[in-house]
Amino acid sequence: MKNRIIRSVKISGTGSYVPEHVVTNQDLVKAVPTTDAWIREHLGIHERRIAAKGEFTSDLAAKAAMNALDNANLRPEDIDLIIVCTATPDRLAPSTACIVQEKIGAFNAAAFDLAAVCSGFLYGMAVASQFIAADMYDNILLIGADTFSRITDWSSRSCVFFGDGSGAVVLTHAKDGEGLIAIDLYADGRGKHNFTIPAGGSEIPASVESVSAGLHTFQMKGQEVFKTATQVLPEAIKKVLTRCNLTIDDVSLLIPHQPSIKILQTTAEMLGLPFEKVMTNMHRYANTSGGTVPIMLDETNRSGRLKNGDLVVFASVGSGWTWAAAAMRWVAE
Ligand SMILES: CC(C)(COP(=O)(O)OP(=O)(O)OC[C@H]1O[C@@H](n2cnc3c(N)ncnc32)[C@H](O)[C@@H]1OP(=O)(O)O)[C@@H](O)C(=O)NCCC(=O)NCCS
Repeated sequence: MKNRIIRSVKISGTGSYVPEHVVTNQDLVKAVPTTDAWIREHLGIHERRIAAKGEFTSDLAAKAAMNALDNANLRPEDIDLIIVCTATPDRLAPSTACIVQEKIGAFNAAAFDLAAVCSGFLYGMAVASQFIAADMYDNILLIGADTFSRITDWSSRSCVFFGDGSGAVVLTHAKDGEGLIAIDLYADGRGKHNFTIPAGGSEIPASVESVSAGLHTFQMKGQEVFKTATQVLPEAIKKVLTRCNLTIDDVSLLIPHQPSIKILQTTAEMLGLPFEKVMTNMHRYANTSGGTVPIMLDETNRSGRLKNGDLVVFASVGSGWTWAAAAMRWVAE
């Protein structure tokens, strides 16, 4: 990995959207062998949002995008590129980004999807930053959006983990010393079986057999996720800070992916980071996969907790394995 520092990209607007329908732990207890106490204690989740019938990933993404544009004081036609980070696209083709482009009327924008599951948003931030740093584009709409309710087996207790939601940011040019400082991406495909949706692609196309075998819903090895997450998250955060000549004491806020409260508590403990600096909202939304980091960022931004010059660290881990960490000097507009 080259020791590159990025000094030209900032977030100039944030937005988010979650579906209206709330499903509580108590609702799930009626359907599968689980308890409210177990879910709260192990995962920190109290409830999650579920997309309505006829509401798709692109709908959540388009609403989050419009909120981010509004926050950045931009119009859809000002956008040069739309990237949608998702593991649950509306369709295999076209990309969800093209569908979002049409829904928000951003017809000057190129559009594509990016697949890194729970790490999608930070992978997307790294990709989008290159276009800004190279001066190819001025305004990029980066969206994380997922509807895991559509790939969940609602008859199994694995239905406790995820919810639906979307967050978006507008990335633009920054002055030297502002905005994104560094971002590190990682992957290890040897972990591919630990979180997977086996069917629906070229390996196992949809068939009567694939549907009846339950291969279109996610399969997760929870213990492996826990073990890997609590190793790679602290390591990646330490590494990105070190190469920016910063320490954990310099961090104003950690805006992480939201897999489980225990993973985040363990990560904070290993880093020596006070948990008050770790932003969490999994109690309301569960894990919204690609949506977690930008939804958490938008809520933190709108709450007024982010101050100009704050050092914000982002981190996420997910299927692949993929993981990422970034350091940013917040620019309050
Ligand atoms: C899921 C997780 C909490 C399970 O804990 P664990 O101790 O590793 O898991 P185990 O499978 O050994 O189960 C421990 C106990 O919890 C119970 N359990 C597991 N899932 C449960 C559920 N959904 N509801 C209620 N109880 C559950 C098991 O029955 C077991 O009980 P027992 O000891 O009485 O047999 C933990 O692995 C974890 O947090 N993983 C990360 C998951 C995650 O973040 N996923 C998001 C993907 S990015």
